[in-house]
Amino acid sequence: MAEKKQKKMIYEFHEMKRKQEKVVWITAYDFPTARFAEQAGVDMLLVGDSLGMCVYGYKGTVPVTMDQCIAHAEAVRRAAPSTFVMGDMPFLSYQACTADAVRNAGRFLKEADCDAIKLEGGSRVVPQVRAIVDAGIVVCGHIGLTPQSSGQLGGHKAQGRTVESARAVIEDAQALQSAGIQLLLLEAVPPEVGRYITELLTIPVYGIGAGMHTDGQLLIVSDLIGQFQAFTPKFVKKYENIAEKTINAFKDYADEVHNGAFPKPEHTYKMVEGELPKLLKQMEDKA
Ligand code: KIV
Repeated sequence: MAEKKQKKMIYEFHEMKRKQEKVVWITAYDFPTARFAEQAGVDMLLVGDSLGMCVYGYKGTVPVTMDQCIAHAEAVRRAAPSTFVMGDMPFLSYQACTADAVRNAGRFLKEADCDAIKLEGGSRVVPQVRAIVDAGIVVCGHIGLTPQSSGQLGGHKAQGRTVESARAVIEDAQALQSAGIQLLLLEAVPPEVGRYITELLTIPVYGIGAGMHTDGQLLIVSDLIGQFQAFTPKFVKKYENIAEKTINAFKDYADEVHNGAFPKPEHTYKMVEGELPKLLKQMEDKA
């Protein structure tokens, strides 16, 4: 019998860092994908606000709401009861004040049974991080390229490529660790900066586009399976081309509907033996 997967807890991710075991992390937004991820043994799922682009077709993540994130997190949790699930705080769910931050972070735990939350930003979100941590919630920081503030960063650009920029990312990492985060995500920084921060911090540091030295890797599922077609960041490796496969399946279906190859008798329901002549007779009598 297949062994039932045990959900990893936060202390186990810390242990994995000590043992230098890499963590495998992907985003998930829906029930089927989260189910496949759990079956594949993925360590951690992020219900990312990237769902704005990957599921809703928005240009960016800014329009995403808490209610959307909660609905998707609930579906992911139902599909993956034995996987560590993290909810992503959308734009304006935590920036305005610490009370908003705590209430919205708490919704991920109370309504969607998430194990942790993630929020973007360094030193400037330290008060929010402290308040959420004080409420007893596991927090993951997210620095480097932070898509919610990409306007200020001049677009979706790699960070930490100059001394000044690298020092800012390093100082943000230290400030967040001191504020109580238990995990850190680094996005789009050179591998040298990824390595420096991974070795500097005692907490696990994971990367998306942060090179090979971090304690684990995150990829956006829609990039990984080749479903998202708008653009492909440099750090993405596509492990499948679902877009092409899906388009071909739809075309094959259309061809078979048009040429009568689908449906075949094996796709139909049989009437109970002897009922058809009775039905036709009744209809004839009625006419
Ligand atoms: O929303 C998300 O998927 C993210 C990644 C870009 C890291 O935050």
